Amino acid sequence: MIVTSAPGKVILFGEHAVVYGKPALVGAIDKRIYVRVERRKDETIEIFSEDLKHKKTSFSLKNKTPQLPEEFEYVKEALAITFDFLDKSCGLDIKISSGIPPASGLGSSAAVSIATILAISKSLDTNLKDKEIARLGHKVELKVQGAASPTDTAIATFGGVLFVEPSKNAFERIDCSISLVIGYTGDARSTKELVKKVKLLKERNPSVIDPIIEDIGRVTREARKRLEKGEDIGELMNKNHELLEALGVSTKKLSTLVYKAREAGAMGSKLTGAGGGGSMIAYTPKNQEKVIKAIEDLGCMALKAQISKEGVRVEK
Ligand code: PMV
Repeated sequence: MIVTSAPGKVILFGEHAVVYGKPALVGAIDKRIYVRVERRKDETIEIFSEDLKHKKTSFSLKNKTPQLPEEFEYVKEALAITFDFLDKSCGLDIKISSGIPPASGLGSSAAVSIATILAISKSLDTNLKDKEIARLGHKVELKVQGAASPTDTAIATFGGVLFVEPSKNAFERIDCSISLVIGYTGDARSTKELVKKVKLLKERNPSVIDPIIEDIGRVTREARKRLEKGEDIGELMNKNHELLEALGVSTKKLSTLVYKAREAGAMGSKLTGAGGGGSMIAYTPKNQEKVIKAIEDLGCMALKAQISKEGVRVEK
């Protein structure tokens, strides 16, 4: 039996502007998805997840497979793509456990894909390099979603904080540690729809929207400098949220969580990810419990989170 895990993520700075070539800062969080696999004697794949409330499903990759719950679709594609890459296959019993709420914008699909790829390669006694795992994971997301940036799968593989610069097609590792509280609205949202909304707004009003995108880029570069020096990033987080509100991607509930978190003592707060629902983050070197209570008092789920330096790993 092999158990692997990979971390979820938050976008610390720069979402939406990154679509237009500006940098983003993304951090892995200490909330992980665990994949337990056991080889079978036949070629069947049997998968279930109590945490995600998905009952046991069996299929064979050799036949047309049934439509699976979303997280299982990522596992299925991870199996197909990794077997193909390794030119080997086997039947497996798979169990998924998750500490990341699904569809919350916290990177659960990338984490499950990456943890599955490592689990399969170990079950087949092969050693994939981290770079190969990240590349295969990106392929999985492309296959399931149609479009995906390599950011989520990179952060799930490597962990830590990455400064993503689309123009350079590269990631740089930033050494820092941050205490966060994550507030989850419970409202599902579509990243695709929100990216489209910003695109249309920008097309209709380039002279208004382009400077906002430039400003988000500037805030992100400044945040990188401060993180590297271990300085406070609260004010910049607040500024980033205001700019995201100006792009029209916040909601009343998200912004209420953001402002209540500040009132409860967070040094900064913003929505994280695409917006339109999903989650927000509060930068909380102090007052974590007060911020958690403020979020819970609004009927939302709050999670304490630290940056996880570790990416995908085999559990002992
Ligand atoms: O919904 P999330 O957390 O995966 O974030 C999407 C981030 C965007 O910048 C809005 C889109 C993207 O592809 O970078």
